[in-house]
Amino acid sequence: MAITVYGASGYTGRLVAAELRRRGFSVVLAGRDGDRLRALATELADTEPGDSVDGRKVEIATRQVGVEDPAALADAFRGSDVVVNVAGPFALVGEPVVRAAIEAGVPYLDTTAEQLFVKKVFDEFSDPAQNAGVAVVPSVGFDIVPGDLLANVVGSRVEQATDLLVAYDVHDWDMSRGTVRSAFGALTSGTFVYSDGGWRPGDGTTPYEAVTFPGNVEPTPVISWAGPEVITVPRHVPTDRLSVVINASIVTPEFAQLLQLPAETVATIIDNLAEGPDDTRRAAARFTIVAEATGADGRRARGVLHASDIYGSTAVIVAEAVRRLLAQPPRAGVLSPAQAFDAASFLDFLVPHGYSWDVQTPADAPAAQ
Ligand SMILES: NC(=O)c1ccc[n+]([C@@H]2O[C@H](COP(=O)([O-])OP(=O)(O)OC[C@H]3O[C@@H](n4cnc5c(N)ncnc54)[C@H](OP(=O)(O)O)[C@@H]3O)[C@@H](O)[C@H]2O)c1
Repeated sequence: MAITVYGASGYTGRLVAAELRRRGFSVVLAGRDGDRLRALATELADTEPGDSVDGRKVEIATRQVGVEDPAALADAFRGSDVVVNVAGPFALVGEPVVRAAIEAGVPYLDTTAEQLFVKKVFDEFSDPAQNAGVAVVPSVGFDIVPGDLLANVVGSRVEQATDLLVAYDVHDWDMSRGTVRSAFGALTSGTFVYSDGGWRPGDGTTPYEAVTFPGNVEPTPVISWAGPEVITVPRHVPTDRLSVVINASIVTPEFAQLLQLPAETVATIIDNLAEGPDDTRRAAARFTIVAEATGADGRRARGVLHASDIYGSTAVIVAEAVRRLLAQPPRAGVLSPAQAFDAASFLDFLVPHGYSWDVQTPADAPAAQ
């Protein structure tokens, strides 16, 4: 089975390609820079592949192709079993890759965390993907597979959810340069909220001020987070309102300063950042996700998930999503993670990879204030 990784030469792309090889998939390392792709192929060839998923030799190929040539992009994807898009910012690079995968008739997933891009993919590619018989699953990574799946599980434990909260508590997250670039673009181009049963432009505020995360005595101040869950979760958990928040301390003084600067200055500063954390710093990032659904009868279900290593997790999640897309193909169209994959079984798969998760029906106060 051959998986094309578009943007394989980036920080996350390299982790994803290595994890796919470890899982026994052949990889086609695709992107705009042939030298970087060939260097990665040489590096990967020195690693032992996992047992082949289909009994054929686990191979590595490269394919240099830019996003400005739609026909060449579709040609490059034809014959692959899945296209994994890791090239960002997705607002700038993503659309032609989705279109080319659909044109080539190949299932597609990506690692975007950009809410507006995810909305665009649902709005503009649902019909083409369905007509082509292709499954398209955006946002397959730390952000947002665990949150989307946990929300699905808690949503199924209450009678008609009226309110759904997804709260992140993230620490020691050294962001990759690509994440900073994408996050800066996303934070300056508008957001959506989900309220009164529909999507509306957001104003950056949230009804919640603080969340008491498990194990903490004191509530943690939170801010609104433009998570793609706002777009994906209401498609599989009917609810009146959905809020996504994150610990306010995630916005470091340096990041807050970036938001005040002219875009050209920011672009130069970002270009000069390190590509991403080394393996030790990468593994140190840890996060807790709380998903809490309140039913029409006032009863609540609360899911809690702990894990670490945001970028390593993303690679593990992508490779498992690829395996599931091929083993149990979902229906065609643009799908949320929980529409494409069984929520509880995917979360269980992550347990040996450092995840723990649990769902309770709490009698105590709601997690958020
Ligand atoms: N959802 C999650 O949890 C999660 C986790 C990790 C990453 N991400 C997202 O994934 C994306 C990649 O992150 P990263 O850390 O890997 O960033 P990165 O190191 O900057 O890599 C970006 C990749 O995109 C390619 N690219 C950029 N502009 C392009 C263009 N115009 N045409 C073709 N290719 C282009 C780059 O190609 P070159 O190598 O040729 O420059 C590189 O391969 C970001 O949007 C990030 O936010 C999300």
